[in-house]
Amino acid sequence: MLDNLGDWKRTHSCGELRLEHVGRTATLMGWVARRRDFGPLTFIDLRDREGVTQIVCDAERSPEAHARAKDVRSEYVIAVRGTVVARAPSQRNPKIATGDVELHAGEMRILNDARTPPFQIEPAPNEPLASEELRLRYRYLDLRRAQLQANLRLRHRVIAEIRRYMDEQGFTEIETPILIKSTPEGARDYIVPSRLHPGKFYALPQSPQLFKQICMIAGLDKYYQIARCFRDEDLRADRQPEFTQLDIEMSFVTQEDIYRLIEGLFQRVFRLIGVELPVPFPRLSYAEVVHRFGTDKPDLRFGMELRDLSGAVKGTTFAPFAAVLEGRGEIKGIVVKGGAGYSRKTLDELQQFVKRYGASALAWIKLGDELTSSLLKALGEDGVKRMADAAEAERGDAVLIVAGPPKTVAASLGALREEVARREGLIDASEFAPLWVIDFPMFEYNEDDGRYYAMHHPFTSPVDEDLPLLERAVEGGETELLGRLRAKAYDPVINGVELASGSIRIHRRDVQRLIFKALGLTEDEARRRFGFFLDALEYGTPPHGGIAPGIDRLMMLLVGTDNIRDVIAFPKTASAVDLMIDAPSEVDPRLLEELHIRVVNE
Ligand code: AMO
Repeated sequence: MLDNLGDWKRTHSCGELRLEHVGRTATLMGWVARRRDFGPLTFIDLRDREGVTQIVCDAERSPEAHARAKDVRSEYVIAVRGTVVARAPSQRNPKIATGDVELHAGEMRILNDARTPPFQIEPAPNEPLASEELRLRYRYLDLRRAQLQANLRLRHRVIAEIRRYMDEQGFTEIETPILIKSTPEGARDYIVPSRLHPGKFYALPQSPQLFKQICMIAGLDKYYQIARCFRDEDLRADRQPEFTQLDIEMSFVTQEDIYRLIEGLFQRVFRLIGVELPVPFPRLSYAEVVHRFGTDKPDLRFGMELRDLSGAVKGTTFAPFAAVLEGRGEIKGIVVKGGAGYSRKTLDELQQFVKRYGASALAWIKLGDELTSSLLKALGEDGVKRMADAAEAERGDAVLIVAGPPKTVAASLGALREEVARREGLIDASEFAPLWVIDFPMFEYNEDDGRYYAMHHPFTSPVDEDLPLLERAVEGGETELLGRLRAKAYDPVINGVELASGSIRIHRRDVQRLIFKALGLTEDEARRRFGFFLDALEYGTPPHGGIAPGIDRLMMLLVGTDNIRDVIAFPKTASAVDLMIDAPSEVDPRLLEELHIRVVNE
């Protein structure tokens, strides 16, 4: 039988009681985390969002409460009124904040019962969590877990701090629509059929990019929005089909203004977890980071930079290296301190690892008591030594080497560098190493279809000095010049995570036309897709620029998780499914009819 709440009021939370409260009466309400029965004594761990308090029901002192406690099961919702008592020193639990005291129940009300949960909400310290699939299906139960509660509350504080900071900096928060037309961020759109306009569709925003630029044209000067974005793309551990950006745009600014704004913002946000980020962040060009770290989002918490070893094997007759050098490929390596002890098995694992990034093989040199190397036969001892010297390896080290096209070498060695750092424990989890990656190329050439694509998005401005190149490339037919164009684009990166992307935008209609042309967009197609924006550009567009930090990614860093679902209340799986509400799902055929949609079963 259930009790009513009646006129009971909570006096404290379940995380609040301390020795200073001893002797006072308190009323707590929450969920039963655990019940232990010892005949005349029943212990209940009572949980709410603030913590856990131990309740003691004593058959002698309060028989009614003790009898009531017999009916209580896991996750029942109860209210307890009683006296705060100090625990005997030997009974104190330093692991919980309320561990010095307990509440001796005088009265208990059972406010609601609960079915037996399909998994233990807080498993014992050495037990694993239930499968993520099960926990996502019962998200409301998993969210009762202290870690997830803490993550969501930190997320709230971060967003509150962001709003405070942006307000102080003179920004206006503006909501842009969700039912729009396709925006170009390079993923597929989620589309929404229109009932009133048969055969027509809205698209959900991949970002508010064009709306925020139009806000600048409208003279709003400083815009921001905590914006939900929707992208139908392949998901990874740090991606969700819907995610949140802090979307920012400003007028009459240069890159420097954006750097200052974001450094100040990240400083404020990281202070919430007690971390003081050093400013200004170092700035490294795209070319430099790819050369040194094999990636455009390098983790600067450790060294192990890529070494160019091509010079050491110049003129070699070893066919794989000779072929690479002839084909304008690269031979690069990383030095693993103390890696001479690597076993055959470890080297095999690392070989498999780089193959996933397209490398054909992983060559190695070990500078142990004797020199061993997978290249001894091919290069001879002198050749191998030359490579080890070029890598600046020392006795006791290993050199791990990949040869191939520059993109493959960068991708595989960049990833290997991080993998080895993880294995070797070179990463200090309490450190935060920010940088700006700047001077991105405007365009990226795609070998598959022989076309150039915008590396950021097609509204990003080229560097002023490169405008003549753009004209020559587009109007003069020297297409290959597009590969040399630099963009006014910038990404802040912390610990190997791309936290945001931004750029100074094109504000001139003539330049925008050239960029569309460079991307192979006909005038007609550009008008069909972005006509509204091209029109707006012609009515006095100020120079402007912006950026968009991904809030979920930022939260992952602050919380220290590599699973984006840990920082989102109701996330989707890697196959874009919400297991709790079972979405996506089929809809009523009548609804489809109204929408003029027929589903074709393949
Ligand atoms: P971009 O597409 O780089 O730029 O996105 C900006 C930031 O948003 C985050 N992000 C994501 N987070 C979770 N799941 C995803 N699927 C996902 N995709 C992106 C990342 C990323 O750095 N309009 C431009 C910004 C601008 O130029 O102002 C844009 O959207 O942290």
